[in-house]
Amino acid sequence: MQKTIEILKKHNELKIVDEELDIELEIPHIAYIEVKKQNNKALLFTKPVCKKSGTKYSIPVLMNLFGSFSRLKILGFREDISKDIETFTHLSAPKGFFDFLNQIKNFSKLSFLFPKKIKRSFHTILKDSEVNLFDLPILKTWEKDGGRFITMGQVYTKNLEGNLKNLGMYRLQVYDKNHLGMHWQIHKDSNHFFNEYKKAQKKMPVSIAIGGDPLYTWCGQAPLPYGMYELMLYGFIKKERPKVAKCLTNDLYVPSDCDIVIEGFIDTNDLIDEGPFGDHTGYYTPIEPYPVLKVSAITMKQNPIYLATVVGKPPLEDKYMGYMTERIFLPLLKTITPSLIDYYMPENGVFHNLILAKINPQYPSHAEQIMHSFWSVGQMSFVKHAIFVPQNAPELTNHSEIIEFILNNLDINDLFFSHGICDALDHSSPKFAVGGKLGINCTNGEPKYKDLEILPNDELLKNIKQKYNEVVALRQYFTNTKNPLTLIAVDKKSRILEHIDDFNPKHIRIIFVLDSKDNDLDNLYMCLWRIVNNIDAKRDILIKNNIALIDASAKGALENHTREWPDDVNCTPSVIEKLIKLGIIENSKELFRKYQIDKNYKTQI
Ligand SMILES: Cc1cc2nc3c(=O)[nH]c(=O)nc-3n(C[C@H](O)[C@H](O)[C@H](O)COP(=O)(O)O)c2cc1C
Repeated sequence: MQKTIEILKKHNELKIVDEELDIELEIPHIAYIEVKKQNNKALLFTKPVCKKSGTKYSIPVLMNLFGSFSRLKILGFREDISKDIETFTHLSAPKGFFDFLNQIKNFSKLSFLFPKKIKRSFHTILKDSEVNLFDLPILKTWEKDGGRFITMGQVYTKNLEGNLKNLGMYRLQVYDKNHLGMHWQIHKDSNHFFNEYKKAQKKMPVSIAIGGDPLYTWCGQAPLPYGMYELMLYGFIKKERPKVAKCLTNDLYVPSDCDIVIEGFIDTNDLIDEGPFGDHTGYYTPIEPYPVLKVSAITMKQNPIYLATVVGKPPLEDKYMGYMTERIFLPLLKTITPSLIDYYMPENGVFHNLILAKINPQYPSHAEQIMHSFWSVGQMSFVKHAIFVPQNAPELTNHSEIIEFILNNLDINDLFFSHGICDALDHSSPKFAVGGKLGINCTNGEPKYKDLEILPNDELLKNIKQKYNEVVALRQYFTNTKNPLTLIAVDKKSRILEHIDDFNPKHIRIIFVLDSKDNDLDNLYMCLWRIVNNIDAKRDILIKNNIALIDASAKGALENHTREWPDDVNCTPSVIEKLIKLGIIENSKELFRKYQIDKNYKTQI
């Protein structure tokens, strides 16, 4: 990490914050706001403290390392890695001698895949009773978080037989001086390994590394198929074998240049309540039982740096990490769906809530066929809403043009509903990790409905209120398209879908209904974030008389939703006020409103 700090300094990508700042809320809030700014910087907090316990830490905290495209570039992340991957996925029998030589050249890149074992020297070794996780500046991000969490830990595991290895990034809750909660969700590789150890009634070794080459951290979140070791991806990208060293108290190997290594064993019979935690969906995840690591040793390099991130409402650092993942995985997805041209996960869809895909359709329902493929492959199967467009559609990242294209080419009477597994973090599905899916096929040309008679917002609002008096605000968007969007905010007292007959199909095509208390209808970016988070496609969409009514409100008894509906994450106002007073953050009302940073924002009426 010290080397990384030098690189960041050289490229003017680092802000050093020398004030004493609290690891609880203060440091995370500063990083959260910084990364939402244009031309933001990585932040190095040189004097982290815990005001509650009076602890002053000698280890600085580095945040927002991956938080911009320019930083990804200087850290050596190359988009053209996807070309290398494509080359491998297209290998065929050589067409002659020179082609043969070319293929050998490509294969020689594979020699970098395998980690090289070396000896590691430690500056600090803390074993058994010397272990104290509270000696590390581990952050508490959000007010309602269950405690302090390691957020950028590289979690190294191996299966029971020892022939498969895994590197995953999962948050880790500090329970006490030597116990950590391991939040690997049920679909994740380390959890599959855990189940093997549990069945065999054996203790599971786990090591967590922090820092070192930033590429290790990125590889930890890369959704490689089960059984593929993420350090091999490191070697492929870096064209250099990762150097690993044996841990002191278990037999796992971790990269030898990491700043901090926490190692130990899990007793597979013990699960402890983990959370709540303000997660990357922008909502708190509820308390759930997870395995616990008993830490047997902590080792450190000289002058270690503690690397951390903040997750919450978008855009955040994971936007940039996810972008690299999206690019690198395109050629791999193409191997199973050759008609796929490109795909894009908009940041306010927080990855699994929304995907746009461009395809070259060859036959009727080709789009739906590829949707089925997506919903059957690895973590892509978590995607809740998929919109498919043909090759002549605008660039997927050109937001205004692609939205218009979609709205001119979708037919609300031809939506594709399915259901299946969803991300363990999804809060809107009626059952844990099982929910509705929506596929929108925009490859069939314009729908055949009559154009609407568009009314001004206030007139349409008055019109609707006569029948449905819970409506308090209304905005219309994209009224020039075949499917204008009407957003309404309600003070909900009755089930929303029961009101479908209160809307006039002469004036309205697609209606999204949001709670008035925490939605600003003028903020389409945050409304989209809320909508794709809050709907379960099978339960919350009703189509009748050429109207699609979509209930994006918080669910509860009215909808027979029995799971806990979580709060969304907001910065703590008193902490923000203090940081503004100290001159550490700017009082930018515009930024706060744009990303709903500190409290609930309503439509200005
Ligand atoms: C900042 C960040 C935090 C994450 N936290 C978790 C987590 O707590 N639990 C989890 O299961 N996945 C988490 N993920 C997603 C996993 O890292 C990702 O799904 C990864 O592919 C898992 O690796 P695996 O398939 O080898 O298990 C997180 C990702 C990021 C970028």
